[in-house]
Amino acid sequence: MEILDGKKISNQIKDEIAVEVAQMKERGEKVPHLAAVLVGNDGASLTYVGSKVRSCKKIGFESTLIHLPEDTTEEALLKQVADLNANPDIDGYIVQLPLPKHIDEQKVLLAVDPDKDVDGFHPTNFGKMALDMESFIPATPFGIMELLRRYNVETSGKHTVVIGRSHIVGRPISILMSQKGQAADSTVTLTHSRTKDLKALTLQADIVVSALGVPNFLKEDMVKEGVTIIDVGITRVPDDTHEKGYYITGDVDFENVSKKASYITPVPGGVGPMTIAMLLQNTLLARERHKSKQA
Ligand code: GUN
Repeated sequence: MEILDGKKISNQIKDEIAVEVAQMKERGEKVPHLAAVLVGNDGASLTYVGSKVRSCKKIGFESTLIHLPEDTTEEALLKQVADLNANPDIDGYIVQLPLPKHIDEQKVLLAVDPDKDVDGFHPTNFGKMALDMESFIPATPFGIMELLRRYNVETSGKHTVVIGRSHIVGRPISILMSQKGQAADSTVTLTHSRTKDLKALTLQADIVVSALGVPNFLKEDMVKEGVTIIDVGITRVPDDTHEKGYYITGDVDFENVSKKASYITPVPGGVGPMTIAMLLQNTLLARERHKSKQA
C-alpha cells in the first residue's frame, strides 16, 4: 500500500510555481493576483479561504480577501463580482461556496468573468472542459488528476467508480477521468443517492473516488483487493478531546480499507492540499493568458 501524499505533492507544485513567480519578478512583470470572496463566517470556509490566502503569500502571489457579512444582499455581492471583473489588477478570483441561503448561487457564478474564473465553475468553463477545450478545470478534480499523474497510477482501461454527483467534484471528475489522456481513459461509473446496490459497483472498481461527506462510509467489505482510493470527504466531527473541538475525517474507513488498497489518500493531507495547489496553478494560468491577451 502506498499513500498518495497530497501534502508532499502540493508542496512540490507550490515550489514549482514559486520558481515561475520569482522569474516573473526578475523580468519586472506583474505577479499573479488572486482574490477570494467570502460571505459570512462558516468555520470550514474561513479555514479554506485563510489557507488559500496564506499559500498565495508563500509562493509570491498577490492576494486579496474580501470578507463580507452574512447578511450581504445578492445585489451587493453581484456588485462586488462586477468590480472584480472590471479590476485589471485581479487575474483570477473565487467566490467561496456555500453562499448564505438568501443568495442565488447560480446567479453569482454566472456573473463571474470566465477569464477570471479560476474555480472553473462558470458554465463556459465547465462546458469547455466537457468538450476537451482549453478552460479552467475545477481545483479539486484537477488536484485528483495531478496526484494520480505524479504517482503514475494506471487509470487507462480501469473501472473508476465515483461516489457523489456534486458540481464541484463528482460530476467534473467523472467527465475528466473518462476523457482521453494521462490519469484518464478510464471507464467511469457515476453513483449517487439513488444508485441501487452501490456495493456491487464499488466491488468492481479499480479506483474509487468518494466525494460524499459521510464519515466512515466506505468500508473494507465494499472494495476489492488492490483498489486505489481517493477520499475527497472532509468532515468536521465534534470532539471535545481535540484542541479545536473537532477532528477532520474523510469518507473512508482508512484503517481497514488501506489494508486492501494499492494506493490511498489520507484525510487530512490528501486531496485537500492538492485543491489549493491547483487553484494557484489556475491563477498562474490566468495571469499568463491575460498577459498574452494584452501583448
Ligand atoms: N467550497 C468547497 N470547495 C470549494 C472550491 O473548490 N471553491 C469554492 N469557491 N468554494 C468551495
